[in-house]
Amino acid sequence: MRHLIDSTDLTPQEWYDLYARFEDILTHAGDYRDALQGRTMASLFYEPSTRTRFSFEAAMHRLGGGVFGFSDPNTTSAAKGETLRDTAIMVSGYADAVVCRHPREGAALALSLYASCPVINAGDGGHCHPTQTLTDIATLTHLRGRLDGMKIGVCGDLKHGRTVHSLLRALCRFYRNVQVYLISPPDLRLPSHLKKEMEKAGLRLYEVTNLEATIGILDVLYMTRIQKERFIDPLEYERLKGVYVLTASKLRAAKPDMLVLHPLPRVDEIHPDVDDDPRAVYFEQAKYGMFIRMALLLTASETPVATPSRRYETGARVCQNPVCITAGECYLPPLTNAGGLCLYCEHEG
Ligand code: NCD
Repeated sequence: MRHLIDSTDLTPQEWYDLYARFEDILTHAGDYRDALQGRTMASLFYEPSTRTRFSFEAAMHRLGGGVFGFSDPNTTSAAKGETLRDTAIMVSGYADAVVCRHPREGAALALSLYASCPVINAGDGGHCHPTQTLTDIATLTHLRGRLDGMKIGVCGDLKHGRTVHSLLRALCRFYRNVQVYLISPPDLRLPSHLKKEMEKAGLRLYEVTNLEATIGILDVLYMTRIQKERFIDPLEYERLKGVYVLTASKLRAAKPDMLVLHPLPRVDEIHPDVDDDPRAVYFEQAKYGMFIRMALLLTASETPVATPSRRYETGARVCQNPVCITAGECYLPPLTNAGGLCLYCEHEG
């Protein structure tokens, strides 16, 4: 492992090794008490977080390592106008791994260009969130042993939901014979570039709007919240909020062994009357998130990263996405992928 910007940065071998390590840590946690003694993790959270930050920090502590960082960028030099580039150069001189969450899409990739230690993306705007995917897959493989042949429903805000984006990418890269039901209102559908990517990889996708009509055939229901903070028009959020609410009574139509996952936080999309149902595993999922992050931090500590660049561009910006990191940090080199999409945020143009 080098930097982890999205789930697809890992090779299949690295991917499966992480889950093997996760299982070993779950059963022999004591053996790992000093595994990262003397190492330090920086946790740079430019956006609110509960589970991701706490679980990363707890993971590092449980491995015997140290942690520094912030959860409010207003307390750092970012508030004085320091660039992400300067922060990356400096912080990676203090830390052995940098975990970063940022409201702008592509921020982790931008940071990784200048960092001299592994950068782990803890969520970059509405783009991706690979360590939540590790958490989701660890939960499913631990509880069910396999994913092949499963019918997985992802429900809610599929347009802005970064956890869904990374999960779907991982499903097409690492698993075969998985069927995915995309359950969302028409205005919150999965971005078309991701849909194309899934179809090209041969993932069987079904786009539907009705949760009640679909729940009965699913093996896994992955609920997500409507991402209020990503809406440009607040009235649009008001119109769409509360569109899906899973209740104990709706769950009666589901298979007896269907699992309900949620990256959390929930707002109103899962009624608390679901919590006592044995199929509701979202709190266990959050706990497994710490153990898989322990596996990830260990792996990151074993792999060197490429020499960072100090490139500082002064040319015109090419990406037109207003929430792309290149809109906020204008010195970034204009990078595009083979399909011509902006490499930072993967938006067209
Ligand atoms: C998710 C996130 O931040 O994208 N939360 C998390 O990391 N567990 C999901 C969300 O905020 O809806």
